[in-house]
Amino acid sequence: MPTHAPLPLILDCDPGIDDFVAILMILAAPERINLLGITVSGGNVPLHHTSQNALKACELAGRPDVKVYAGCPRPILRELVYEVEVYGETGLKGVDLPTPQMSLQSTHAVDFLIDTLMTTPKKITLATTGPLTNIAVAIVREPRILDNIEQIVTMGGSIELGNITPAAEFNFYADPEAAHVLYTSGKKITTIGLDTTHQLVTSLDWFDRLDALDNPVAHTLTLMLRAFYEYDMKHFGLTGGVLHDPSVIGYLLNPLLFKEKDVHVEIDTSFGIGRGRSIIDWWRKRGLPANAHVVNEVDVKGFFDLLTDLLASYGNKKQKAEGALT
Ligand code: RIB
Ligand code: CA
Repeated sequence: MPTHAPLPLILDCDPGIDDFVAILMILAAPERINLLGITVSGGNVPLHHTSQNALKACELAGRPDVKVYAGCPRPILRELVYEVEVYGETGLKGVDLPTPQMSLQSTHAVDFLIDTLMTTPKKITLATTGPLTNIAVAIVREPRILDNIEQIVTMGGSIELGNITPAAEFNFYADPEAAHVLYTSGKKITTIGLDTTHQLVTSLDWFDRLDALDNPVAHTLTLMLRAFYEYDMKHFGLTGGVLHDPSVIGYLLNPLLFKEKDVHVEIDTSFGIGRGRSIIDWWRKRGLPANAHVVNEVDVKGFFDLLTDLLASYGNKKQKAEGALT
């Protein structure tokens, strides 16, 4: 049994399949994580789809009570680029889940972030798995929220290569100005980039392991994950599809699975080929104070065991059994 009170958490995301998995991980462990709300931005696909996909994840998990807030449809300055090729037109390739019965909250995500962080009796952890627009706009509008943030754990950036360009990872590329606001906010940002997430790739054997759990949540995920299994193999020479965003929830639930280093990070906000690059001073050449805990290693087996156990727990939970699965 957990010895600590559940972690008060807000997830900011752009579902996408891997964000969808991250939501299901959170909702599988209510005794560990107290999800105060989900804020959504445009990102992988337009805001209409990302926000509906967040609702679909909550309903699949049997949690229509979760509050989901739509936020910024586009970055602070740049035009949004979508990842439709990766995750499909709707962002959830491979499945056609029913239209959600639950609705979005009427409050804008940025207002929810500010209102909640300004009134909370306890510090709140922020997990981010998409472009950082909502969080950055909240910080610019009300910098005092930073005092009530326990930790920010972000999927973004990379020590070495990019994915959407040779230089930059998608979340930071999409809104470099937003990423700049976070890394100059004075908070140390826990940063899980491609160097780590590219170690977390799916396999056909693991899909079979999930299907053997014989529960609709796990089965829905394998349908989605099989659908984009080959993309990363073809584009990055990996052995399966990359589970980027679930790494953030894995870190929150068991940070001992990860290795990190305190270093300085600067975001390239130019308009050239370096746009959105995270310049991670891994060898501390610049002598600048660390503004990030940068993760570079993960216990892959430990992570997949954790993820599988979380998904297995849906086998004995009440949840929306059917999804219209294709
Ligand atoms: O670069 C990977 C990130 O971009 C993930 O968060 C994925 O969902 C996409 O948003
Ligand atoms: Ca994402």
